[in-house]
Amino acid sequence: MARTFGRSPTVRPREWDADSYDKLPLPHLRWGEDLLTSMKLRGDETVLDAGCGTGRDTAKLLEHLPHGHVIAVDGSRAMLDRLTARFAGHADASRLTVIHADLTQPLPLHDPVDAIFSVATLHWLPNHDQVFAHLASVLRPGGSLHAEWGGQGNLAAIERVLSQMRLPALGETLNFPTAEDTHRSLANAGFIDASVALHPDPARLHRGEQLESFLAVVVLGPLLDRLPAERHQALVHDVASQLAAPEIDYVRLQAHATRK
Ligand SMILES: C[S@@+](CC[C@H](N)C(=O)[O-])C[C@H]1O[C@@H](n2cnc3c(N)ncnc32)[C@H](O)[C@@H]1O
Repeated sequence: MARTFGRSPTVRPREWDADSYDKLPLPHLRWGEDLLTSMKLRGDETVLDAGCGTGRDTAKLLEHLPHGHVIAVDGSRAMLDRLTARFAGHADASRLTVIHADLTQPLPLHDPVDAIFSVATLHWLPNHDQVFAHLASVLRPGGSLHAEWGGQGNLAAIERVLSQMRLPALGETLNFPTAEDTHRSLANAGFIDASVALHPDPARLHRGEQLESFLAVVVLGPLLDRLPAERHQALVHDVASQLAAPEIDYVRLQAHATRK
């Protein structure tokens, strides 16, 4: 059974609709696979999955670590409940530790990990100097960081629609840095040999329920969090109708670095 601890009532990150999230055709799965392929694991390492969500990548990590261990960290109880249900009765669960924690704070880990993996999470964290410092402090010297998240220019078409509708920008809450900013933050935190690249990766969806569900559950969360629930459905519908194409214009930032 997976060990779960650290469920502190003081953890602040927002909640997610984890069941809906898990049902969506997320490009996140492909992003996770690309990152995993780049890691070249031996199979006996301990890897931290920072912002593990419902654990789809966590399961893949465990497959690549037949003699290793995964520490899955997330700030959403709903996401972690879904992850725990995914591993119920699964043999791999004995090699999994689940921690409910806020990634903006120092991580409650006792021993250093060999590598850190993170998909579609770091843009939720405002101060990357601080986040990379916290991550470096739980990574052994020579250990590696492999992360991807939304970078500069991410969701620009959606931001334009929000601006036309006189709604707050997602960028007021989310952090889409440049490759140069990320290089600097990694170096400040004691990472070396960093490679950082931005690339556009638009996700095409079907107009109607699929697009609207994707917008509501994955993209517009920071905006919906600021509005009463009764306004959500109409607002999501209006944003979807004003998009020129049923497309989420993702720009991803991928970073690989080694802890000095
Ligand atoms: C888009 S989901 C990605 C989940 C998973 N990595 C995937 O690719 O499906 C972003 C995740 O980051 C987590 N997250 C956001 N801010 C956080 C914070 N401050 N502390 C911990 N987790 C956070 C959310 O709870 C959510 O599970």
